[in-house]
Amino acid sequence: MTATPEAVLARIDETLPEATERLLDLLRIPSVSTDPAHAGDCRAAAEWLVNDLRRLGLAAEIHPTPGHPMVVAKTPNMGDHSLPHVLFYGHYDVQPADPLDLWKRPPFDSALEDTPEGKVIRGRGASDDKGQLMTFVEACRAWISVHDELPLRITFFFEGEEESGSPSLVPFMKENADILGADLALICDTGLFGRDTPAIVTSLRGLLGEEITIRAADRDLHSGMYGGLARNPAHVLAQIIADLHDGKGRVTLPGFHDGVPELSPGQRAQWKALDFDAAAFLGEAGLAIPAGEAGRMPLEMIWSRPTAEVNGMESGYTGAGFKTVLPAEARAKISFRLVGRQDPLKIRETFRTWVRARLPADCRVEFTGHGASPASVMATDNPAFEKTRRALSREWPREAAFVGCGGSIPVAGHFREILGMDALLTGFGRDDDNIHSPNEKYDLECFHKGIRSWARIIAALASG
Ligand code: BES
Ligand code: ZN
Repeated sequence: MTATPEAVLARIDETLPEATERLLDLLRIPSVSTDPAHAGDCRAAAEWLVNDLRRLGLAAEIHPTPGHPMVVAKTPNMGDHSLPHVLFYGHYDVQPADPLDLWKRPPFDSALEDTPEGKVIRGRGASDDKGQLMTFVEACRAWISVHDELPLRITFFFEGEEESGSPSLVPFMKENADILGADLALICDTGLFGRDTPAIVTSLRGLLGEEITIRAADRDLHSGMYGGLARNPAHVLAQIIADLHDGKGRVTLPGFHDGVPELSPGQRAQWKALDFDAAAFLGEAGLAIPAGEAGRMPLEMIWSRPTAEVNGMESGYTGAGFKTVLPAEARAKISFRLVGRQDPLKIRETFRTWVRARLPADCRVEFTGHGASPASVMATDNPAFEKTRRALSREWPREAAFVGCGGSIPVAGHFREILGMDALLTGFGRDDDNIHSPNEKYDLECFHKGIRSWARIIAALASG
């Protein structure tokens, strides 16, 4: 069978309006995984995908889990063992849309908008990850409509809990290893490097989430009556958070840096050659000055250094006006991004012991653990990486780059550990897509060229 993408690329160009309508339809389903009120919507998004994949002639099924369902689908050519077998992973769940008042249109009333920078697909999930997962589905649709069948065996695997820590993922992968095994996993959940350099991710940071509540008095107190005498848990929490970094921005937890490698000279030179414009990257978010560890280059700060960040804090009176109160409790959500061989569970224990040691008399602390996943490094010596690099470079105005990713996609590591297969990550999001923020969008150009990119990658992976 021929595996040239030209006719497929032409079909993609002709059918872009229909593909865009399909994506908008999927985006209108508010599949917010973290909120139990949206469980029905998560199921609806999974069903939408099953129906769409069945229309492509695939065997697609919903697989219930204790949380939101998984979708698994297979091309009809599974019996042809001469064809390489890839698994494509994406997530159909989205982040909560709040704060709602900052959206210029309702987050699930998705639409194609004209902006001074070009056409954008606006809505929660447009970029993370429904738009990206549909780039692959649309490439397959165009391929099937031109050639009747795909030149690869493909298993599709969509989950609906990625944005809420994937509690069902590992058990599901273990129980269903027989239907999920393939030669290689493809993941479309990352971005371009700059505006139009396609990027293949070579490393992901891991993630450890810890929620901490410090309690002191058995109720809120009048800060005039008790202030100065009674312990204030907001101060205790603030001190603990302040102590997490030294004056040079380095995390102070004992043993935290065990397993953190220094960049190799080769890696440093390759990242330097990417010519990252930190001022422009920060400037686009209204900032100007890198605020990470002293003496590290900006790409290193986001790709290969471990961090501790406060993601949320709450204590005392935060409503309108003023209230002279001495709060009874203070809470924070803290996440650690991990690199190298840092061990998330060991760091969790270290962090808890370290906090307890800082707790003054009259205070109690409670911890709730969230995700705990190690960093991962991709197997760039797998020949699929060079094939993909060449395919992407033909589609975009610049050569594809090998990049790090500061975000966390734990499934990449699970594919290796549980199913013994390498993962290849590429994606077409832009830095200004507002993922996890109000007014999320996906540029129509990224959607279009993303679909074309996958058609080229499919052709390249099929060509022996
Ligand atoms: N698509 C993102 C990962 C990502 C972030 C890629 C930034 C490129 C740039 C993914 O959906 C995500 O947000 N992951 C979470 C981790 C998850 C375990 C909650 C993250 O990185 O915070
Ligand atoms: Zn994502």
